[in-house]
Amino acid sequence: MKIDSRQIRAKFGDDYMADECTFVMGIDQRFTRHFAERFVGYNVLETCTGAGFTTLSLARTARHVFTVEIDETHQQQAIKNIEKAGLLTAVTFISGSILDPEIVKSLPAIDAVFIDPDWAVTGPDHVYRFQQSNTRPPADLVLENMLNITENVAIVLPPLIKTDEFKSLPEHECEKLILGKSHELYCLYCGDLKRVVGESEFYIDI
Ligand SMILES: C[S@@+](CC[C@H](N)C(=O)[O-])C[C@H]1O[C@@H](n2cnc3c(N)ncnc32)[C@H](O)[C@@H]1O
Repeated sequence: MKIDSRQIRAKFGDDYMADECTFVMGIDQRFTRHFAERFVGYNVLETCTGAGFTTLSLARTARHVFTVEIDETHQQQAIKNIEKAGLLTAVTFISGSILDPEIVKSLPAIDAVFIDPDWAVTGPDHVYRFQQSNTRPPADLVLENMLNITENVAIVLPPLIKTDEFKSLPEHECEKLILGKSHELYCLYCGDLKRVVGESEFYIDI
């Protein structure tokens, strides 16, 4: 797939940097702005940064965003994108794995966490599942770890996941995110981030 600046602008809102991988991974700005409304005034831990498209929205509403990314190329794109948006002072970039306990220990007090794991795992063995997740990092494991930091956690999940896999999770809101006729994502909100308990929908008309 070849992407151009017009496509990047349409999805992310400005002339930001993205390659084919980070363009596909990044979440549409209409959704990221919607997520960010729930993080107003919070010290937010975000994992995983990607090219920083969710970070941009979070940085506009949060008190501060601490964002962890394992891939140096993605992180460099994110730094450039946040700089272009004039938001560098609102974001601390952390290199490494969110599964590294030393990284988690080094963080200041966190009010809320936003998790966007990498679902782009392809190949004949790929199965969309939440429990014993095969994402990078594993969605179920990283959610469990983050719930040890704060109960205020949101996690983005793909539409192909079966929602009955969430039954064992703490009380949460399961929001279906729809763009036109396309079900694009789920987002689960726990703790104070939820607005209802159970299912909800966020719809964007196109
Ligand atoms: C779906 S993308 C995030 C996209 C991002 N929300 C955006 O808007 O651009 C997932 C990211 O997780 C990163 N990642 C994978 N394993 C990780 C880990 N253990 N710790 C931190 N980041 C990780 C990947 O390199 C990838 O950039």
